[in-house]
Amino acid sequence: MLVSDNLGVNEKGNLTIGGMDTVELANDFGTPLYVMDEEKIVESCRKFKSSMDKFYNGNGMVCYASKAFCCKEMCRIMAKEGMGLDVVSEGELFTAISAGFPTDKICFHGNNKTDSELTLALSYGVGRIVVDNLEELKRLSELAGKLHKKSNIMLRIKPGIDAHTHSFIMTGQIDSKFGFALETGEAFEAVKLSCESENVTLKGLHCHIGSQIFELEPFCAAAEVMLKFIAKIKNELGFEIDDLDLGGGFGIKYVEDNKPLPYEVYMEKVSERVKSCCDELKVKMPYIIIEPGRSIAAPAGITLYKIGSVKEIPGVRNYVSVDGGMCDNPRYILYQSEYDFEIANKASKAKDYKCTVAGKCCESGDLLGKDIMLQNPQAGDTLAVLATGAYNYSMASNYNRISRPPVVMISGGKARVIVKRESLEDLIKNDV
Ligand code: LLP
Repeated sequence: MLVSDNLGVNEKGNLTIGGMDTVELANDFGTPLYVMDEEKIVESCRKFKSSMDKFYNGNGMVCYASKAFCCKEMCRIMAKEGMGLDVVSEGELFTAISAGFPTDKICFHGNNKTDSELTLALSYGVGRIVVDNLEELKRLSELAGKLHKKSNIMLRIKPGIDAHTHSFIMTGQIDSKFGFALETGEAFEAVKLSCESENVTLKGLHCHIGSQIFELEPFCAAAEVMLKFIAKIKNELGFEIDDLDLGGGFGIKYVEDNKPLPYEVYMEKVSERVKSCCDELKVKMPYIIIEPGRSIAAPAGITLYKIGSVKEIPGVRNYVSVDGGMCDNPRYILYQSEYDFEIANKASKAKDYKCTVAGKCCESGDLLGKDIMLQNPQAGDTLAVLATGAYNYSMASNYNRISRPPVVMISGGKARVIVKRESLEDLIKNDV
């Protein structure tokens, strides 16, 4: 079984994505190559949106977290699908603006936004700026005053929920660099100061408990904590919060063992909890924002490489080296992430060869997978790494001065380049 339902095997025994032959894609566009399937992206957006409609009367917005995969074409697709957009830097914001994305549907995150980032957001009328700390609140308020703008803000709150995921991508606990703590009174202080500020309008509260989470309860528990805080604000300050942003973090299937819940189930259960808490606490039902990133981008993408060598070290390990690595996918070296692999030109064959897939960077830890099973890999074969649509292109680097691969978007049996391959000239263009 292949991990994403947009993948298959054709009559030649080659791996397909969205019905297109991946061996032909690799030949036509070269390797390494990121391939993204537009229909899969659109399907996921629509699933999130329809579950928001069905279980929460459409009283909310699905904001794609662009850090998962950001380029102009992705922003255009999100705009066409009527999605909101979460950006976390000037670069992501500029990309969205350049793609003509409606700025009122943008949420601007970040735990240390610079003055230039805040100025850009204010000048373009970004819908919601998510304030992370008291210094930022003060700076934003001053900048808004200078520019004669009034900004809608949300406050990022740490709900104190420990989600079961890799510690590097866990964010909701008190020991986190993101947001205001509830326990210390800091969050309440930030609410009071926001209400007093003339240049910002407190619209909502935000939380995000982490990423690649499979359980439902941490999401429901976070919603409950946030609603209790909303009730406290109403009771003690007489101020009603409109928006509740519950962040992203929905787990996806990278390998057979991963069992993600359908998005509908998440929305159904969280909506139930929000409704029951609102009744109990006597607060109005907030406008809900969710911010899926990985769950929209990851299953839609694969990466194709050429195998350059197979090195057998008897009694030790077999290394299969490819023409990319940690420079286009740093997730193994960062989180020891697991992936599913296929030899694209032998996809109907049995995986009976144990090996470790290594990249081409000067770094022993530069692996894409350790001790995985493959279909008799040989030099010249095309290797596909599956479900790489999120946090691969967006986290790629030029380590070892390796140029970043292009991104090809497929749709309706056609492929188009949406990000060009970096040239050698691109690599030195800022050198003086
Ligand atoms: N909202 C906020 C405020 C976030 O910080 C994130 C992810 C998301 C939404 C989207 O989360 P998602 O639905 O994609 O899980 N580089 C790591 C993941 C880092 C996630 C950072 N924040 C990885 O490759 O696993």
